[in-house]
Order: sequence, then C-alpha cells, then structure tokens
Amino acid sequence: MPQHEQPPTNAAPRRAVVTGSAGFIGSHLAHALVQAGTTVIGVDRRDPSTDPTAATNLAALQGRPGYHHVTADLLHCAIDPLLIDAETVFHLAGIPGVRPSWGAQFGDYLASNVLATHRVLEACTRIGVARLVVASSSSVYGPTDGGASLESDRPKPASPYAVTKLAEEQLCLAYAERPIGPSVVALRYFTVYGPRQRADMFTHRALHAALTGQPLRLYGDGHQRRDFTYIDDVIAATIAAAVVPTAHGAINVGGGSNASLLDVINIATSLTGRDIQLHWDHARNGDVLLTRADPSRARKVLGWQPRVDLHNGLRPHMQALAAQVPDLSRAA
Ligand code: NAD
Ligand code: UGA
Repeated sequence: MPQHEQPPTNAAPRRAVVTGSAGFIGSHLAHALVQAGTTVIGVDRRDPSTDPTAATNLAALQGRPGYHHVTADLLHCAIDPLLIDAETVFHLAGIPGVRPSWGAQFGDYLASNVLATHRVLEACTRIGVARLVVASSSSVYGPTDGGASLESDRPKPASPYAVTKLAEEQLCLAYAERPIGPSVVALRYFTVYGPRQRADMFTHRALHAALTGQPLRLYGDGHQRRDFTYIDDVIAATIAAAVVPTAHGAINVGGGSNASLLDVINIATSLTGRDIQLHWDHARNGDVLLTRADPSRARKVLGWQPRVDLHNGLRPHMQALAAQVPDLSRAA
C-alpha cells in the first residue's frame, strides 16, 4: 500500500457534523469522534427528550463537552449554520430498512434519503465543507451470482429503499465532480450489528428472542447470507474515510463474517444458553439471498479491514441488549 494512502494514526477531524446522530450508527460515530477529540454537532429529527430510542442512543453523549445535539429535520431546517467550521460532514441521516420501503412509505424514503441529502449537499457547497462522508448501502448491488461485490459492479437495486440509497450516493458523487463541491466518500455498509442495533434488524431480533423466549419470525428458509459487519469496524472505516486525503468515491465496508441467518440463530442460542422458538414465514420482496463485500478497495484506500468476527461481535451485542432489560441480565 502506498505510504500516502495510510490513514494517520488516531486521526480524526477537529470539527465535524454527524447527521442521524440519534440513530444506531450515528450515535456510535459521534461518540467515537468525541473520544478522539473532535468537536461534534449531532443533528437528528428524533428528539431525545421524547423519543426513548434516541434517548438511549444519546445517553453517553448528552451533556458531554465536545458534543452538541440539535433536534431538526434536514428536510426543512436551516443547515448552513450547523456546518460553519465543520471540516467533515458525516451524513448518516436517512430512513433505513429494506422491507417497509414498498408501498405508501416510499415517499418518506425518497424525502429523507434523497431530498434531504440534496439540501445537505447544497449547504456543504455554500459553506465550503471539504469532505462529505455519506452512508450508502450494500443493497445497491441487488442480487449477486454468489461472488463478492466490487464497487465497479453494475448496481441492480432490488427494493425501493435500495433505489433511494443508490440515488443518494450517486447524487453525492455528482456533486463531488463539481470544482466547488465537497470531496465525497460513499461507504457501502454491509448489514451492521452491535449494541443499540435497530430493533427491526435480524441480529437484534434473534438475540431478543433468545433472551426473552418470544418467538422469532424467519422470512424465508434462513439460508440467506449476509456480510455481518460489527459496529466498531464500521466506525473505524467511517473515520478513516474522513481523514485519508486521497479517499473518494464508493467504498465497500463489509467482510467481517459471511454467515446465514441460521448461523446467527445458532450463535445466539449458544451465547444465551436458550433455544429460539422459530415462526417460519415467507421470504420478503426485495430481500437478496446473499451479500458479500469485496473489501479490497477499503483496504487499499483506507487501510481498513474488519477485525471483529460474528462470534466476538454478537457477545457484546447480546450483553448490551440484556442490560437494557434488567430481568434478563442474568442471561448475559
Ligand atoms: P437509524 O434509523 O438508527 O438512524 C438514522 C437516523 O436518521 C434516525 O435517528 C432518524 O431519526 C434520522 N433521520 C432520518 N431522516 C431524517 C431527517 N429528514 N432529518 C433528520 N434526521 C433524520 O439507522 P442506522 O441503522 O443507524 O443507519 C444509518 C445510515 O446508514 C442510514 O442512512 C442507512 O441507510 C445506512 N445503512 C445502514 C445499515 C445498517 O446495517 N444499519 C447498512 C447500510 C446502510
Ligand atoms: C440491513 C439494514 O436493515 C439496511 O438498512 C441496510 O441498508 C442493509 O442492511 C445493507 O447492508 O445495506 P438487511 O440485510 O435486510 O438490511 O438486514 P436485516 O434487516 O437485519 O435482515 C437480514 C435478513 O433477516 C433478511 O433476509 C430478512 O428478511 C431477515 N429477517 C429480518 C427475518 O427473517 N426476520 C426478521 O424479523 C427480520
């Protein structure tokens, strides 16, 4: 790897804005940045004083020097004042989740993932923000032939959500081509898990089912596979994307553990010592059978590779979940 492409050790921007900071990945990112000495403005439309998930996600950040939280909707708020002095904008705000994106909710996906991103890009351009790191998604690849997905592969998004994420990343990359726009790194995250994971996601539900004895609904035969990527690895890649001067374009962030849903169920069962009651259900539209990242561009450009495998990542995930529900804590 060329020397200039190595991220400086422990480097982080001095000042940054994190959108979606009350969410799963955004709250971890804001926390890691503050720990690294960055002054962070976090923006999210979920209000921690009324939204319990936002309150939990932001518990370690609220009132902490170096972190300032702004409750605002990026579709309507004045974005420019938030960006003044920011070296990097980490744009993670958006509506995630493949399955609910069919039907009436599509307008919300389009608004938050595309129109709000357009407002962020316009503001970054006006203020002269140097770097935008945007959360893209493995879902842009769609169905694969079984091989690992490369950034140069032709995207074939298979759900309305994936279409909005492709539009979002391509919009950002189009702005980056302009001489006055920010440089852009679009990180294609692969199924992220770990403490505070969204409650609609599979690993959360599998661990919750094991801890509570409540049934787990399985969509399809459970043999679908994902490149499960641990949250700390995702955060390391995201910060590297801000500080490596030459980084640009789309980069896969995945490759920690390729495993099936049944593998996750087996690990959750052995970690908790409890069986999971399965309710078999039909496969959902837009769900792909396999995601697999080729992480070589991340290694070359960011000097990044995943370090935490599924066995080691599911343990802290399970412990954090058990701690949220006091009467389950003995299971951890
Ligand atoms: P999350 O729902 O926990 O966090 C997203 C946050 O964005 C929420 O707190 C939400 O309130 C906020 N938000 C949405 N629209 C907004 C708006 N208009 N104005 C202000 N705030 C707004 O989701 P997450 O899992 O942390 O995902 C973060 C990002 O990463 C999303 O863009 C998602 O598409 C992307 N992503 C996530 C995964 C994953 O596995 N979790 C994988 C690939 C990509
Ligand atoms: C996840 C995130 O939810 C998306 O926001 C993100 O964009 C995407 O990763 C990505 O990698 O880009 P997904 O891989 O579908 O999407 O992750 P889960 O929501 O955890 O679902 C994984 C699998 O479990 C899917 O096949 C799903 O059908 C299945 N599942 C999920 C169930 O069988 N039961 C459930 O209760 C939930």
